[in-house]
Amino acid sequence: MKIPLTLNDILAWLREDNPERLKTLWGWADETRRLNVGDTIHLRGLVEISSHCSRQCGYCGLRVSNNSLSRYRMAPAEIMASARQAVAFGYGTVVLQAGEDFGLTCQWVTDVVRQIKRETPLAVTLSLGERTEAELDAWRKAGADRYLLRFETSDTGLFELIHPSRGSRNASRIPLLRHLKQLGYEVGSGIMVGLPGQTYESVARDIDLFRELDLDMIGIGPFIPHPQTPLGNGELKPFASPDQQVPNSELIVYKAVALTRLVRPDANIPSTTALATINKRNGRELGLQRGANVLMPNLTPVKYRKLYEIYPAKACIEETGSACNGCLQTRINVIGRQIARGPGGRKRRALELEVVC
Ligand code: 5AD
Ligand code: FES
Repeated sequence: MKIPLTLNDILAWLREDNPERLKTLWGWADETRRLNVGDTIHLRGLVEISSHCSRQCGYCGLRVSNNSLSRYRMAPAEIMASARQAVAFGYGTVVLQAGEDFGLTCQWVTDVVRQIKRETPLAVTLSLGERTEAELDAWRKAGADRYLLRFETSDTGLFELIHPSRGSRNASRIPLLRHLKQLGYEVGSGIMVGLPGQTYESVARDIDLFRELDLDMIGIGPFIPHPQTPLGNGELKPFASPDQQVPNSELIVYKAVALTRLVRPDANIPSTTALATINKRNGRELGLQRGANVLMPNLTPVKYRKLYEIYPAKACIEETGSACNGCLQTRINVIGRQIARGPGGRKRRALELEVVC
């Protein structure tokens, strides 16, 4: 008999601190991952194509009012060089990520997507923020396969507080995620854990929402305070009582990743760079052993990496694409897993373990 995790079970696990009980959770998540998506790890080459951003997100170092950052936008030829590197390293996917940069016009992105699809076998994932339905439609028609847009938190009050200057936009990203699905994208989303004002209950609801949204990819990372942002420097202090406030710790991220694997057995779940940033020694590996099956090696040219500082002390900021590639191969071998080949889209299987809470 299959016992699905209820919202209350998820909440209880998020609050669980007994190491022996947590070992059980890690075991369930690892076994569910193995049964559904196997032992191979998909590598998605990440290219941070522009650090310009028109938005004011309270947590993000790229926010428009951060004057201490010099901004860049990669030229199409530079993006193509990174894409070719992805092919040379055997990656199946390139992820083009940027702030919400309206200098990346509809036509410009369309041309870049078309060129990658024409000249390489790569799957193309876009992560360019909340763009118009017409743009998303055009990029899909140009051949983009996937779109990543984290909903960050399902607490709409907190979401609005930390995403000001939204004009007439919807107070949530959920409708846009549903629209992306209708356009035929594989859709990725996710959250940060440990935002000021974020409660255990709201993270439990986020995980429940992953189940409902039928997402193909789900990324979860810790909130990392950035001193040039209102949430990072304490100017903006959303309140949650100390017993309700969820920490931005490594452990809570592992719990959220493991629970996400249990509610979405066949999803692609990355062990995120933010997790690797708060535990540079083996955060990535522990994520992979507690439910994750994807890594996103950075392919951004080194001269731009430092400038894409969404949070401080980001992992891999000095390394080249080649160094990251070698490093990740070793890390994957050490934990006894293998690198997957091909684009690695979602295979719908959803075998759930019999879990008893
Ligand atoms: N700490 C952790 N993650 C962050 N992101 C942005 N700023 C931060 C931060 N300070 C995450 C958001 C965004 C993704 C690209 O990076 O979840 O969606
Ligand atoms: Fe632009 Fe956060 S301020 S993505």
